[in-house]
Amino acid sequence: MSLPALNPLRVTRPRPALGADPVGRVLRSRLVAALAAPHGVDRYLEQVNPMWAAHEVRARIVSVTRETGPDALGAPVATLTLQPTSTWRGHRAGQHVLVGVEVPGSARRLTRAFSISSPASVPGESITLTVRSHPEGEVSQHLVEHARPGDVLHLSQAQGSFCLDESPATPTNNHLLFITGGSGITPAMSMLRTLLRDGYDGHVGRRVTFLHYARSEADQIFAEELAAIAAADNGVAVHLRHGDARFSEFELRRLVPRFAGTDTWLCGPAGLVELVTDAYRGSPRLRTEFFKPAVARAAGGAGEQVDGTVAFTRSGLSAPATGDSLLEQAEAAGLAPEHGCRMGICFSCTTTKYAGTVRNLLTGEESAQPDEEIRICVNRPVGDCHVDL
Ligand code: FES
Repeated sequence: MSLPALNPLRVTRPRPALGADPVGRVLRSRLVAALAAPHGVDRYLEQVNPMWAAHEVRARIVSVTRETGPDALGAPVATLTLQPTSTWRGHRAGQHVLVGVEVPGSARRLTRAFSISSPASVPGESITLTVRSHPEGEVSQHLVEHARPGDVLHLSQAQGSFCLDESPATPTNNHLLFITGGSGITPAMSMLRTLLRDGYDGHVGRRVTFLHYARSEADQIFAEELAAIAAADNGVAVHLRHGDARFSEFELRRLVPRFAGTDTWLCGPAGLVELVTDAYRGSPRLRTEFFKPAVARAAGGAGEQVDGTVAFTRSGLSAPATGDSLLEQAEAAGLAPEHGCRMGICFSCTTTKYAGTVRNLLTGEESAQPDEEIRICVNRPVGDCHVDL
């Protein structure tokens, strides 16, 4: 991307962090925002150093560690250790982030959600993502098989309420239960690691039961660490089930007789989630993780035509509406709208929608307001739509 010169913004020496210092405050000021318009200050900082940011979060890959080899579907798992920019606000155990990567061969940045597998973090700390390379997942394949230390990823702030709210500051004797399947283990692992790191003590009466289902022993993520946790005298009972083992209410009752009254975190494939949810019969103690896809496709799918036409009023172009974001549709029409994160974070793609209804791809909310400012990277048309592009 070539950007016009911006003389008033002059960074003369490397600065490792731009978040809390006076320079960071200046860079986030309205004056600098006005000077950097329409690109946004982060577009300029990125040209100087990809780890400089005033608003957006980026992260440098520190290491990539293979967790398991290819499973029956050819999907290996790797853990990426990331050092986020100073704009990272930390995360609570169990939360996830949107990760944006420029995949070689793809003309645009792709964004997907991944759970954080490391313990709760504060600004300045590194985090880990543990990712399974899905055969049809361009982003997960790229992260597991092609990403290298030194690469820079775009991140959202941590999101989600599937969290461990317990902490040593608010001790209780509650029994905690985690039920996970496949790569659904990652948010639960973040919670378990947080409990152990922060001084969880099973001897005061608290217990943790960790029940996990994997396709095979070879597919078991975090196998060594879980074996060490299981062997330690820490009040944590680890139960790993491999192969044909399926969840059964009978077995759960044997492990945790009053499971429906026990604080439980459930994350895994749909089949497991369905069976466990049935067993809990509406108990409010069960918390279930559902990833909101980074870009949900409420009707149709990517590239699929939906009723209506998108009119790009400034350029005089128009195209049949599809299930893609308006940014993607504009690019497909040959336009090059200003944008940054492509994740709804930086607002640099904000454009006026003159008429028509759009659906927010992150929240599912629809809006039919005329002359409305919208982020075109996370909105898609619902019927005819006129946007200022
Ligand atoms: S490109 Fe960042 S909000 Fe749309």
